[in-house]
Amino acid sequence: MRGKFITLEGVDGAGKSTHLDWIAGRLQAAGKKTVVTREPGGTPLGEELRKLLLAQPMHLETETLLMFAARREHLERVILPALAAGSWVLSDRFTDATFAYQGGGRGLDLGRIESLENWVHQGLQPDLTLVFDLSVEEAERRRTVAATAPDRFEQENLEFFARVRSVYLARAARYPQRIRLIDAGRSVIDIRKSLEEILAILCL
Ligand SMILES: Nc1ncnc2c1ncn2[C@@H]1O[C@H](COP(=O)(O)OP(=O)(O)O)[C@@H](O)[C@H]1O
Ligand SMILES: [Mg+2]
Repeated sequence: MRGKFITLEGVDGAGKSTHLDWIAGRLQAAGKKTVVTREPGGTPLGEELRKLLLAQPMHLETETLLMFAARREHLERVILPALAAGSWVLSDRFTDATFAYQGGGRGLDLGRIESLENWVHQGLQPDLTLVFDLSVEEAERRRTVAATAPDRFEQENLEFFARVRSVYLARAARYPQRIRLIDAGRSVIDIRKSLEEILAILCL
């Protein structure tokens, strides 16, 4: 039986990494083989592209094309084989992030991104997308507390992240079957209760 594809989304600092391994643990406890991965990245080439994407200034279209180049590789080498083998794939970001960051944040025409999406993975969407939704001020506060050196995206201002967030919210409204909004302003424990309920519907 084909596995399910779950993606985690949200502005930087919203809590994706905090919950990723916990979700994987819950799925494993329910007897699912799981593969945890991330974008950009997830393959040797993808991780090289990630380094460039997070550090090198580049044209917005170059950035978008590299995101999809890494994604193409990720699908081919990790996501599709794992799903076919019955594993559940849990990815820290996927194409919704390109709509939110390159589209919302940087202003690339969303139709362009849709064209690339159709090119690279027509007919494939995540079975479930968890959008960790948080005010951009609180997300910035959490990033400051975490105090890791900010990458090229994390260095953006609050207006940028407000545009990113608004695209996530718009997509959640447009694809209510696939995308679940998680109020990430709550405690980790309360968030996990919500995640538990959502996962239970899917498999537990
Ligand atoms: N519910 C929460 N309440 C308070 N702080 C949190 C919460 N969730 C995560 N954090 C902290 O916020 C920071 C960013 O979280 P992280 O999971 O790395 O976000 P992301 O992966 O979405 O960028 C981390 O230092 C993390 O410990
Ligand atoms: Mg993270």
